[in-house]
Amino acid sequence: MNYDDKNKVMIGDKGQHLLEALILAQHDSGDNSLSEGKLEDISGQLDIPLSRVLEVTTFYSLLSTTPRGHNIIQLCDSPICITSGKHNITELFEEALGIQVGETTPDGMFTLEQTSCIGACDVSPAALINGVAIGNLDKSKIDAILCKYREEAENDG
Ligand code: FES
Repeated sequence: MNYDDKNKVMIGDKGQHLLEALILAQHDSGDNSLSEGKLEDISGQLDIPLSRVLEVTTFYSLLSTTPRGHNIIQLCDSPICITSGKHNITELFEEALGIQVGETTPDGMFTLEQTSCIGACDVSPAALINGVAIGNLDKSKIDAILCKYREEAENDG
């Protein structure tokens, strides 16, 4: 189901489905972000004030108005992960990707971000990778994750 089809389904229950519409639009954007025009479009289609659409967009860390890479790595920056070695994990990702937190690799494959607790404290340090929580991060796991995504990109052509 594409974004436009989904919108037709949401007409009767617009407020409840705003977040879903934003996620779908971001997914279909091609740069993992929501442009001003797209937010205005959603606002109009769901008859929800643009200010409310912007409020929801900026509240959720999975949404962004800034163009991002194909894969989004969000490192948990909350206390339990920090005490479990999050800073070391950040350095390992930055070194492996050649970018700093908040940046996107030149090939557009990865964006590195921070987020608050993702509910995976029992396996800290943890991160969300494309929305999936991955814990017990260490150098070998990071290398394996990045290798997997690079191989997938190569196979996709
Ligand atoms: S503090 Fe990192 S997942 Fe909860």
